[in-house]
Amino acid sequence: MQRLNRNDLCWCGSGKKYKRCHLDQERKLYKYEEQGFIIPPLNIIKTPEQIQGIRNSGKLTKEILNMVGERIKSGITTNDINQWVSEFTIKSGGIAAPLNYEGFPKSVCTSINNVICHGIPDATVLKEGDIINVDVTTIFEGYYSDASRMHIIGKASENATRLVKEAKECLKIGIAAVKPYGGLNAIGNAIEEYCNKLKYSVVRDLGGHGVGLKFHEEPHVNHFACRGKGMLLMPGMVFTIEPMINEGGYECDTLDDEWTVVTRDGSLSAQWEHTIVITEDGVEIIV
Ligand code: MF3
Ligand code: CO
Ligand code: CO
Repeated sequence: MQRLNRNDLCWCGSGKKYKRCHLDQERKLYKYEEQGFIIPPLNIIKTPEQIQGIRNSGKLTKEILNMVGERIKSGITTNDINQWVSEFTIKSGGIAAPLNYEGFPKSVCTSINNVICHGIPDATVLKEGDIINVDVTTIFEGYYSDASRMHIIGKASENATRLVKEAKECLKIGIAAVKPYGGLNAIGNAIEEYCNKLKYSVVRDLGGHGVGLKFHEEPHVNHFACRGKGMLLMPGMVFTIEPMINEGGYECDTLDDEWTVVTRDGSLSAQWEHTIVITEDGVEIIV
């Protein structure tokens, strides 16, 4: 009997190479399902063209984040950041995804100190010692990319500086846990294990998300430990990892503006976010 080479056409008549054939894929998926993985809805797997579109969008998001990083300093307002992001996005032919998203009134999220996320730019003046997350989501040629960074204004307390640094490490650890044909839950397991050692907590009420064709898609990405393997990570899946790390408890509250999420105990919170794509042999950070 002839052994099929991975590059031969599949015997099933699909016209695809054996390696890529849907029957082969289905057999493989069945095996993973038996092992306890949740099989993703296959429509969340992006085509190479879509991934390239998300990369192009990510390039603009990165430029915006860099621009903010160069200008942010003590004495400016979060409204100023909003205006910079808005103008730069429009000038570059993009659309700021937050503006009017489910009623969000501005083009960017700015979250200072005890604000976990979704802070609304306003007349608040940044001052020495503040830590602030600037979260940029851009639509470019129809594709979404989403990323955020922390900034330390002047010199912050040792505690704040450490939290910002460790939150970045948490994002790195989460990404390192991503393996093609591994489980989504590996991400939260790795992040929580690291945070427990530091006596920090991981926000549970908000998570990362699929992104690319819409702002928020499947899967929902928990940054805390969960039982089971979770969703099977398949090449072509695009999602964010964006752990929110609190100095105190993980509990949070939403303010009356219906957006701003703060730590219940008033402790500091920090977050970094990347959009990633699962590849055949690992992971690519899109932005
Ligand atoms: N960029 C945020 C995220 O990482 C979502 C912001 S929603 C908004 O998912 F409406 F507040 F912009
Ligand atoms: Co996000
Ligand atoms: Co974001």
